Amino acid sequence: MTAIVVAIDGPAGSGKSSVSKQAARELGYAYLDTGAAYRALAWMLLDRGLDAGNPLVVVESLGEFDFAVGTDPDQYFVKVGPDDVTVAIREPWVTSEVRLVARLPEVREHLMALFRRIVVEAARPGIVVEGRDITTVVAPDATARILLTASEEVRMGRRSKELVDQSAAVVGEQLRSRDRADSRVVDFMNAADGVTTVDSTELDFGQTVSAVVDVVQRAVLRA
Ligand code: DC
Repeated sequence: MTAIVVAIDGPAGSGKSSVSKQAARELGYAYLDTGAAYRALAWMLLDRGLDAGNPLVVVESLGEFDFAVGTDPDQYFVKVGPDDVTVAIREPWVTSEVRLVARLPEVREHLMALFRRIVVEAARPGIVVEGRDITTVVAPDATARILLTASEEVRMGRRSKELVDQSAAVVGEQLRSRDRADSRVVDFMNAADGVTTVDSTELDFGQTVSAVVDVVQRAVLRA
């Protein structure tokens, strides 16, 4: 049986990670957070005191990038070699540098091959894969392809709740600047052909998860 692949893309603050993880639980599928790999690579470079802004240094480091990620939605972890970096990769000093590695085509190619291997190994019977270019580049043939969006105002509101110690204006500017930089690399603001948009602006968390699960169940029936 071919594995069921659910591809979910969306901007920062769309609730993509938590919604994807919960949808995976409800569907009984595995879960792959691709952003964690970009973050883990940036973490490795910074941890070693290397210049994440130097493409040659970044590309050279790919050979030593020993990345592991938990694909059970209830046992999520991220490791680089022996180091558990699950928490560290969400720190602002990593978030602000990750775009420097994500913009490099060599990095994207390398990680794409890694993601495809993980999908083949982990799908049981399905896997939810979330990121920015999953519906378009990593898994354009996925069983279900979803773009998860929300208005900028709602995304900023959700992010400021997570980052209680920062002002709404600062959070808003960070979010806009990340989306600007990231969307220069891949377009995740507009749904590609055949991709279903789930707009969570007016939905709470549970309703958003249900909407995603619904799209997946319909796609599985059609497949
Ligand atoms: O989803 P996230 O915030 O954890 O993503 C971290 C960074 O990686 C962000 O700058 C976008 C980038 N990314 C990407 O370019 N392609 C992906 N498939 C996933 C993430």
